[in-house]
Amino acid sequence: MTRKMYIATFGCQMNEYDSGRAARLMVAEGYETTDDPARADLIFINTCGIREKAELKVYSLLGRLKPLKEKNKGLVLAVGGCVAQQEGPAILDRAPYVDLVLGTHGLDQLPPLVREIREDRGRMCRIDFDYNAVRRPDSTAGQGIPGLKAYVTIMQGCDNFCAYCVVPYVRGREVSRQPDDVLAEAEALVKAGAREIMLLGQNVNSYGRGIEPKTTFPDLVRRVAAIPGLWRLRFTTSHPKDLSPELIRTMAEEPVAAEHLHLPVQAGSNAVLKAMGRGYTREAYLEKVAALREALPGLGLTTDVIVGFPGETEEDFAQTMDLIERVRYDGMYSFKYSDRPGTRATAMPDKVDPETAGRRLNDLQTRQKVISLEENRRLVGRRVEVLVESRGIRRPDQLTGRTRTHKIVNFVGPDHLVGRLVSLDIVSAGANSLLGVLPDQNGFLRESFAVE
Ligand code: 5AD
Ligand code: SF4
Repeated sequence: MTRKMYIATFGCQMNEYDSGRAARLMVAEGYETTDDPARADLIFINTCGIREKAELKVYSLLGRLKPLKEKNKGLVLAVGGCVAQQEGPAILDRAPYVDLVLGTHGLDQLPPLVREIREDRGRMCRIDFDYNAVRRPDSTAGQGIPGLKAYVTIMQGCDNFCAYCVVPYVRGREVSRQPDDVLAEAEALVKAGAREIMLLGQNVNSYGRGIEPKTTFPDLVRRVAAIPGLWRLRFTTSHPKDLSPELIRTMAEEPVAAEHLHLPVQAGSNAVLKAMGRGYTREAYLEKVAALREALPGLGLTTDVIVGFPGETEEDFAQTMDLIERVRYDGMYSFKYSDRPGTRATAMPDKVDPETAGRRLNDLQTRQKVISLEENRRLVGRRVEVLVESRGIRRPDQLTGRTRTHKIVNFVGPDHLVGRLVSLDIVSAGANSLLGVLPDQNGFLRESFAVE
């Protein structure tokens, strides 16, 4: 009988990409995927350690999987990703039923290591950084059937060392993949049916260091954008300090480059930005936003914010609240600062007490929700292009898709529209999604539905 694997993914899109790769590697070994861990012969947990909460989730999942391991002696339980890299052998100690701990550079090793464990039931931890492995072309690229939207990793790691961030420690130094490899992978995905590609990296704007002949991120965007059959091109994450006028121009000039940017600001106060080591001031950030909006009217802009960074005063926080009034983001991910092992911020004095941080987070989110709602409402009465992704999970009577600006739009329509670009008239707006109608049904549906 074919062996089955169950993969659980935490964290960012980078991890989703890696999980896809892990699945393809194991399919080549004869495995097939299952969404029921109880039926799996291999469980791979791809972990995230960006915040303490993310890490706790990993251990709680491990605890829940323990009984499976007792029931099924043949089950191989592997932990990969950022927590695996960070904690290494400590995971084997803390969870004696885990067979394999695999670091972020070791994904290629998953098939042979699983084989080895099956043969002699040893337990292993492999967390060495292997920059050659990261540079090698992905042997599984283009295999399998991609969805409508596909990710392509263009670089690994990060050299920024923001004071709060664990990424440079768990993903290693920044390494760009060869542009030809990126292109070949994107082409294969489009050929196999993907219509939207998202290029991934911790800091895509600094793509190209060490690449010969010289290739910048805008160069790469132009090459990928030229793939016939590609409808939309996105990328994330952009570091504000490296966002160049050339990239803005490229976004404006390339028809498939979608008008959305995730531009994490992290804080609105210069003192906090400095302590974080972000490399820009609030003024410089606001100037970039102005340049973006001038070149790309209607741009969707989203961000990340951390509240309660060590030393953050009420005045600092007020500066963050002020910045979101000025920028008026379409959406925001916001977090309470948490200490991460080995980072500079962990050793900083003047930690903000959890209640204060919680109150600030609540104030920020409450205000942002209103701004998001107001920004979404501006689209009511407008016609937008939507890439239809699927039936709604919670609302199976509706289809769901996204605008070029990355806003979710739900609407009533027939199944055959999935995978297509449609024009929709926006009839109402919530803070997190829009309600649209197919233009010819406009009058009929306008009254009948409301956004939850
Ligand atoms: N505490 C809280 N939030 C963090 N982030 C990164 N590190 C931390 C931390 N130690 C947030 C940042 C980043 C997002 C992915 O997670 O906002 O952009
Ligand atoms: Fe989480 Fe960062 Fe690792 Fe992504 S790179 S999984 S966000 S810790």
